[in-house]
This record gives sequence, structure tokens and C-alpha cells, in this order.
Amino acid sequence: MQEARRSSSKAPPAVIVRGRKPWLDRWLESCRDLTELTASHPMMDAVIDEIDGRMIRVGDRWLADFASCNYLGFDLDRDIIDAVPAALDAWGTHPSWSRLLGSPILYEQIEERLTELLGSEDSLVLPTITHIHMSVIPLLAASGTIFLDQRAHKTIYDGCQAAKARGAAVRRFRFEDPDHLDELMAAERDPTRLVCMDGVNSMTGNPPDLRAFAEVARRHGALLYVDDAHGFGVIGERGPKESSPYGMRGNSIVRNAGETYDNVVLVAGFSKSFSSLLAFIACPTEIKQMLKVGASPYLYSGPSPVASLATVLAGFDVNERRGDELRAHLFALTKRLLDGIDRLGIATPNRSGLPIVEIPLRDHRRIADVGRYLFDHGVYVTLAAYPLVPRAEVGFRMQLTAANTEAEIDGALDALEGLVEQGMLRSPDDAIGTLTPAA
Ligand SMILES: Cc1ncc(COP(=O)(O)O)c(C=O)c1O
Repeated sequence: MQEARRSSSKAPPAVIVRGRKPWLDRWLESCRDLTELTASHPMMDAVIDEIDGRMIRVGDRWLADFASCNYLGFDLDRDIIDAVPAALDAWGTHPSWSRLLGSPILYEQIEERLTELLGSEDSLVLPTITHIHMSVIPLLAASGTIFLDQRAHKTIYDGCQAAKARGAAVRRFRFEDPDHLDELMAAERDPTRLVCMDGVNSMTGNPPDLRAFAEVARRHGALLYVDDAHGFGVIGERGPKESSPYGMRGNSIVRNAGETYDNVVLVAGFSKSFSSLLAFIACPTEIKQMLKVGASPYLYSGPSPVASLATVLAGFDVNERRGDELRAHLFALTKRLLDGIDRLGIATPNRSGLPIVEIPLRDHRRIADVGRYLFDHGVYVTLAAYPLVPRAEVGFRMQLTAANTEAEIDGALDALEGLVEQGMLRSPDDAIGTLTPAA
């Protein structure tokens, strides 16, 4: 019943209607696949009516959720939830000062604990990673040359576009290819250089070879700027006491790679593993001081809600007490899924064992059917449609969290087996991009 209400409330695909507003028609046409999918598919732009653990209800259907990025399950953690009321009693719901005007002392406490966790010289927190990329990349680029990973997250790309508008040049280097970066930098005469790239990749689930990229950047006198939105909280420093190959403490890719912050700036957020609306840049104090007078979100943006500041602080405590246990559990759940995928002969780019598992389709035109099948079999995933990804990489992505159950994973594997039987998925022998017919 609820479903009927939903689907009838969905707007018809506006893309078909031509000649109304040129700016709207042009945009909808270029996003036709995505627009049609969003307008018609229950797994896009969905209204979630209720949750129970990692089960979600959409209309009258309960589904296992593999689309959230709450990797450690902190969104459901009782110790973290219970930390919120006292903070609201002390500070109200929202400070509503920009940070320049005034920051509740909670910010100082967060930056102190964060800096200690990361082992960086200093850190600055702002509401989101998008705010940071849009404001910090143009400042660090300083009208010089940015070397941008060809597959960098869209928000990094947008930050580089903002820098370009302020006079920076942008060159793209091939994904996972430090040698290509080396070549481009060797040929570049501009002495002001910034390298921008992802840490753990949000599509493949693989980390880059950070040591190799840091070495190239340092050798060419560049600052390396890394967005590890998905690694922070999941991967961390390695050591004999680690509870899983993810490492310890969740203190992100620089520590995981055994690197230093020498000429490396790390950006990440609390909105994934820490389930809170806040983000950070780990940087030397002199960069922090510069950002405190130069970065628009510090000067003008509304702050994160107090509840998020409280859940970040409580999250640090839980991370110290139980984080490595949760990461070991997350690793085991992810292994269960990846072993099953391997048994079924399904291709995935995931080589790392990290909890982001992308599954490309054999034919990009079947994305709606595949999504419908998964939905009908109680499996909620992220659909990666064109133009969010190139047509040759259209598919879906499953993210695991410590709050998923083995039964949910086994149910998902049953559904994947059904898709294999229908010939929808690629086998590891299929070369990426060779099977999808031209659109
Ligand atoms: C790699 C990466 N960077 C940035 C973002 C955006 O983060 P925020 O919501 O904090 O702006 C995302 C969100 O999915 C992401 O995956």
C-alpha cells in the first residue's frame, strides 16, 4: 500500500518533456539515464519509513541495508546515542555562530583528540568535506598547478574547478599511476604544485599506493592533498597487536601506509565511520592559521549541530575502547561477502578486503532490472548509474558495516546467485569495458 503511495507520488520522468526551459532540458538530457532511474526506481531517491538495526523499511518492504557508510555502526551505538542529551542540555541544539565568531569548547576538544589520534601536527574541523575541498583547494593551489587524479571524487574535482576559476591550472594524471604523475610533474615548469587525490577509493574500495605518490610529490616539491573519507575509522596504523588487516585505531591512510605528514595534508570526515556531520583537515599549524582567516566555511558557514559534536566526542571514546573489536568484526563480515562473491564467480574491483564492494554489470542497460531484482529480494544497495560512472562501469555497490549480520550477507549472496543465473554479472575473466554494448 505504502509502495503504491510512493510510486504514484513519484514525478514522471521530466526528461521527456522538451522545450520548456532550455537550462533544465539540457541538464536533464545529459543525465537522462539517471533521471529516468530516479523517477521510476524504488532504490533511488527512496523514502525510508523506519529502521531496525541494519534493516530498513521502504513502504511495506523490509530490506537489508548495504548502502550506508556507517562502517563502525556508531549510528546505532547506545553509548554514543546516550551522549547526546547532556550536550543538548549544555549547549542547546545549534550554536549558529560561524566558527570565526565563536566555537563552543567542544570544537577545541575534538581537534585536540583528533590531532592525537592521527598523529598530525594540527587539525581543523569544518562542517563537511565538500566545504573543505571548495575552500581549501583554491587556497593551497595558490594560482599554481594542480595535478588531479583522473578518477578523483567529484567533490575534489569541484574544488579544483574553483581553484581554476582563481587562476590555477589543472592537469590530470592516470588513476593509480604514480609514474604518470612523475612524468607530468617532470614536464611542468610551474614551481607551485598541489597533488589532489582520494585515499580509499569510494568505488573500488582500494587504497592508492600512498607511499609511492608521496615520494613523487615530495621529489617534485609538491604538497599532496588526500581525501580519505572512506578510510578514516576503518584503516589505521599497523602493528603486531592489530585485530585485523585493517590495522589499529582507524587513524586513516597516512598512518596505515606508515607515511608521515611531511608535505601531506589529509582530509576526511566523521559522516561515514563516525556517523556525525563534521569533517576535518589534518595539517601544520601554519596552514590551520591561514585557513582560519581565509577559508569561507570557517568565516561564514553555519556550524555542525551540537548533537554531531557530541557524537564525535563519544565516538572517540568508543573507538578507543571497542574500535578494534568492531573493525575485526567488519573485516570478518566483508570477508564473508567477498568469499561468497568469489565462489559465485562474480567480478569486483575490490582487491583490498575493505568494506566497499562494487559489482559491475555485464550490460549497463539492465541497471533498472538488476536494481528491481535486488529490491524484490530484500537487498538495498547503491546503484551506480550513468553518468555517475562511465557506461562501462555501471553496476551497484555494497557497503558493509559492523551492524550488518551474517544472515543479511547470506541473503544478499542468494540474490547475487540469482543475478549470476540470469547472466547479469561479469565473471573475473571478463575484461572491464569489453562486454557492455555501445549505448
Ligand atoms: C571520497 C569522498 N569525498 C567527499 C565526500 C563528501 O563528503 P561530505 O558529505 O562530508 O561533503 C564523499 C561522500 O560520499 C566521498 O565519498
